[in-house]
Parts: sequence; C-alpha cells; structure tokens
Amino acid sequence: MTHERKGPDFWRGTNLNPLLVGAGGEHSVYSLPIGDGRVAKINRLFVTSYLRGEITTEDMKQVIARRKVRHEALKRSFGNTHVLDEFSDIFVGTLTSEECSTLAPGYSPTGSVEFVPTVMVLQKVLPELEKDQPFPMRRAISLGDQQYAEQRFDPTDPKAFALYEAASDFLVLGKGNMPFVSRTDHCGIWVPSMWKELSGSEWRSPPMREFAAGFARFTHETRDNGEGEALDLSGENNAVYLCKKDGQEADVKLLDVLYPHPVLTMARIRNLLLKANKDIMPEFSTSEKMQLMNGVNYLRMANGIIEFSEGPEDFLNPFPQGVSWRSDIWRRVFTLSREGLVERGLASPIPNFL
Ligand SMILES: Nc1ncnc2c1ncn2[C@@H]1O[C@H](COP(=O)(O)OP(=O)(O)OP(=O)(O)O)[C@@H](O)[C@H]1O
Ligand SMILES: [Mg+2]
Repeated sequence: MTHERKGPDFWRGTNLNPLLVGAGGEHSVYSLPIGDGRVAKINRLFVTSYLRGEITTEDMKQVIARRKVRHEALKRSFGNTHVLDEFSDIFVGTLTSEECSTLAPGYSPTGSVEFVPTVMVLQKVLPELEKDQPFPMRRAISLGDQQYAEQRFDPTDPKAFALYEAASDFLVLGKGNMPFVSRTDHCGIWVPSMWKELSGSEWRSPPMREFAAGFARFTHETRDNGEGEALDLSGENNAVYLCKKDGQEADVKLLDVLYPHPVLTMARIRNLLLKANKDIMPEFSTSEKMQLMNGVNYLRMANGIIEFSEGPEDFLNPFPQGVSWRSDIWRRVFTLSREGLVERGLASPIPNFL
C-alpha cells in the first residue's frame, strides 16, 4: 500500500494511530491491525458538509442505512465473491480548528477542537494492494485511474478527439460502430492507460464477463431510484482485475464502486445529456457539469467493459430512441466537463479549445 500525504489526524484522542494507506476524492483510508487486516475509510466529504451545516448525524445514519441496501444490490448484481464485504458506522473525529478550516474553507472555529461526525466504512484489506506483502501476490490492475476522459488527453490533437467522439457516439449513444483501431489505441483517450495491460484473453475471462454482466443487473436492481444508479469506476482501485498466477485464478474485485452521496442516476444522466443537446446551449451549474461528466464516463466505461469482454450483454442505454443528436454533442460535453473541472480547481483551461 502507498503511504500517502498526511491529512487531518482523525484518530486524535483515541489510542489508535493507524497508517494512512490511501486517499482518493472521498475517503482517507487507514490500515487497522485487526484480525488478518482491515481498512477504515473515513469519509472526508461528510466532514466538510457537516462543518458547513449542510448535513446532520441523522442524515448520515440514513445514508448508512441506504448504503447497506445499495451494497446488497451490488452483491446480487455482480456476485458475492466479487464485492468486498463492508460495515459502515458513524465515526466521530476530534479535529483542530485548523484542520476544520482546511477541510471546509470559510468555517468559523467554535473552540480549539471540534467533535465532527462522519461515515466510516470498514473493509478487509485486499492483500494484492499491499505494497509490503511478504508473499508474492496476483498483480492488481486498477480499472480506473483517478481521471475522467476529459482530463486525460489533449483535445487539440485531432486524432485523439476524433477517437473520443466516435467511441462516445458508439458507447454512450449506441450510434455507429466502435472505431476500428486496436483496443490499446483507446488507452489514454477515453479509457485509462492501464487497460493496455489487459490481454484479449483477460478481457474475455470468466470474472471479466461476470463483471460486464453486472452493470445491467445493478441498473435493474436499483431501478426505483431514477431508473437505476450509476457506479463510480473512475477512482483508482475502485474496481481491480487480479491477474492469474501460479494456480490462483484471475478475479475482479469491487472495493469502492458505490457512487458517493448524492447518488447519480440514469434519469439524471439522460436529462443532462438531452439538455446539452438543445439548439441553444443552456446554462449549466458546476455540479450539473460534474454530474454530466461523471455520467458519460460511467456509461463509456461500463459499455466499454461490455464491448471489450465480448459477452452477450446489451449496453446500458438510458436514452429514448430517435433523438437527433447534434454533431457537436461531444465537443459540448467535453467543453462543459472541462469548465466544471476548472471551476472545481481540478484542471486548467485549454486556451485553443474552450
Ligand atoms: N480494502 C482495501 N484493501 C487495500 N487497500 C485499499 C482497500 N480499500 C481502499 N484501499 C486503498 O485506498 C485507496 C482509496 O480508497 P477508496 O477508493 O475507498 O477511496 P476514495 O476516496 O473513495 O477514492 P475515489 O474517490 O478516487 O474513488 C485505494 O486506491 C486503495 O489503494
Ligand atoms: Mg475510490
């Protein structure tokens, strides 16, 4: 496991001092020396929302109850063995006012320390992700790289942009065909570079096919929420492929694919893409831009996994038939996504494109 930058000391005042092993956009992840190893994932987003007065402990309890139901749906959809078990509870961190101001700029201190509730998820350690493992482990290939397609390549490169447009047409809108290039040519454009490491037989392996088959089931299982929930495949090690090794079979493990609160749904993705398709471009808020970007990235990646694994499943398709899509729809989506990323401080503008 990587030993990442130091964040707030969530464990102050406890007799625990666990090692910080990872930090993505949502959690700070610590290894706990319990049993054969556990990770505790402290949700930083709820800390910020709580300090801003946007969420209460009661709201978080509801999020936890809802997460249990979503996690059960995930296990039914993708198979028990592919989904890491988890247990969630409220965790109260003791934070200094400086730490609170870093997590929630604008927060006004009420004292020298603040007791801040948040959601903690406990999981078994996935040994394949531990850097200091004494035994040789199966190689883990992350299916996400912490980036969106719209962050990944230079859109002023006409070849790269044409591939992004054609792949998006096919994988998101079901239009045309998959661009006739080698699978690895897609890597670094709309898919992470690491997908290059997966061979054709790994793509067609039983665990990858089971993974591919899970998307439609999960959409159906969660249909009461906006026609089905989207998953978060873009984070690093949210879903990993474990390569076959010395008698150990290949596998796919889902560690962190539930979309963070508030959940993104198929109906929301459809409405946002239809909004971007209007004759006169409407105004989009920053959060709409981010949701649109997340939504199209989910559809592209899930349908890309279905395509590359060559299984029998139909693509996810939340759009009505017969929509006349603008020829510049992907230029618009790209522009909106970049604007959202710039507004959130996650990317810099591209002068010749926007
Ligand atoms: N069960 C686990 N075993 C070993 N390592 C883990 C486990 N869960 C998470 N990690 C490590 O911690 C990192 C961050 O975990 P996680 O994906 O839960 O955080 P996150 O903030 O939700 O990330 P993102 O927002 O990018 O999805 C992972 O990339 C992984 O390296
Ligand atoms: Mg993650």
